[in-house]
Amino acid sequence: MDRILIRGGAPLNGSVHVAGAKNAALPLMAASLLTDQTLSLSNIPHLADITTLANLLSQHGVEIAMNGNAPNGGHAGRVLSLTAERIASTTAPYDLVRKMRASVLVLGPLLARCGEATVSLPGGCAIGSRPVDLHLKGLTQLGAEIEVDRGNILAKAAGRLVGTRIILPQVSVGATENILMAATLAEGETILENAAREPEVTDLAVCLQAMGAQIDGVGTDTLRITGVEALHGAEHPVLADRVEAGTYAIAAAITGGTLELEGARIEQLEALADVLRAAGTTFEARNGGIFVSRSNQELVGVDVMTEPFPGFPTDLQAQTMALLTTANGASMVTETIFENRFMHVPELRRMGANINLHGSSAMVRGVERLTGAPVMASDLRASASLVLAGLVADGETIVNRVYHLDRGYERLEQKLSEVGAQVERIEDRP
Ligand code: EPZ
Repeated sequence: MDRILIRGGAPLNGSVHVAGAKNAALPLMAASLLTDQTLSLSNIPHLADITTLANLLSQHGVEIAMNGNAPNGGHAGRVLSLTAERIASTTAPYDLVRKMRASVLVLGPLLARCGEATVSLPGGCAIGSRPVDLHLKGLTQLGAEIEVDRGNILAKAAGRLVGTRIILPQVSVGATENILMAATLAEGETILENAAREPEVTDLAVCLQAMGAQIDGVGTDTLRITGVEALHGAEHPVLADRVEAGTYAIAAAITGGTLELEGARIEQLEALADVLRAAGTTFEARNGGIFVSRSNQELVGVDVMTEPFPGFPTDLQAQTMALLTTANGASMVTETIFENRFMHVPELRRMGANINLHGSSAMVRGVERLTGAPVMASDLRASASLVLAGLVADGETIVNRVYHLDRGYERLEQKLSEVGAQVERIEDRP
């Protein structure tokens, strides 16, 4: 398994191109199942999870073409064309779904398009049990008959799904996306209340509208969908990745450097902006992207609580905690979205961090310095947290199990090296 070696101490300076968002690209790719025409997605990030979902969609019968590299040979996002002219299979098998939970997003589109779907029930992961009960409840309310049998979700709809009023008892990005996609082809109107407002949900809704779906309330917590007979093809650029952008913003802050984040949109990162500014960092919109700098300002502790958008994103909690371990003073970090998203804490402690856990809160007391150490990545965002800590730690840090990072960060070590980090990938000889 590859590892990443980081030698800490260098302030980062320069500009980073922000790739398309993993968490937008995945539901957008699943939306291709809703039409027999071609959906063309540009600015697709080069990530393991994208490849995993492309493999799953191919076995459903989706014709997929990738333009290889982006225009001008760079990496500024590739174009993925997906054509589900004929659905060859309505089964999403365990060996593919277990690799990536977001595969469950084919359930709503297959039900709406074909009236049936057999999708392996996604397991949990490092950060929590990750149930999909809200997905199943919402689709049942649209008229599907759903049972779980021997680890599979068996879903059938006698005829066309029928629109209705659905109130989600808690905010769920995936449930909102699955129900939204199914409702676009249902008969009549669906009102989805307490819908997630994450920018990736909005990006999906905008793409569905381009495909002919009738959706009102996009960007709010109440979506009104009037079902149509069929959707058509469209061309849609994948939204820039706010989590990748936020991760690099924190890299600038933790190393006392300055970065321009090309393509990042500040209106999607206001909650992070508030925290970084309070911690002593400059964070502002500039040149169509975001400018982040902490040259000589002192880093001070700040309290953070994760919440659904527009609150502080849970996907930036681990990275922000790494920053706060080196701040002057104490910070309380509270995780309200997932029940086990502190896997980075014992590893940060190995690097000298002073963190005490109290249930869903972590009390972080800033220390003079972190020291490099071999550490273990457990999940995607925890891995990023350890890399960020390594950028500022004295000496060498080796992050093991780097495949977690490759799921959500495109060319991380290359992008960091290009702005001055001393980081390299150690490939394990086969
Ligand atoms: C999406 O996961 C993202 N993944 C996650 O990003 C992100 O952390 C999460 O939203 C929250 O913003 C993708 O978009 C592919 P949820 P999702 O449904 O949809 C509970 C990353 O690092 N819940 O909003 O699975 C659930 O257990 C990943 O890129 C139910 O109880 O998240 C959690 O506690 C990690 N029943 C809370 O809701 C359900 O049916 C929020 O989950 C569904 C969810």
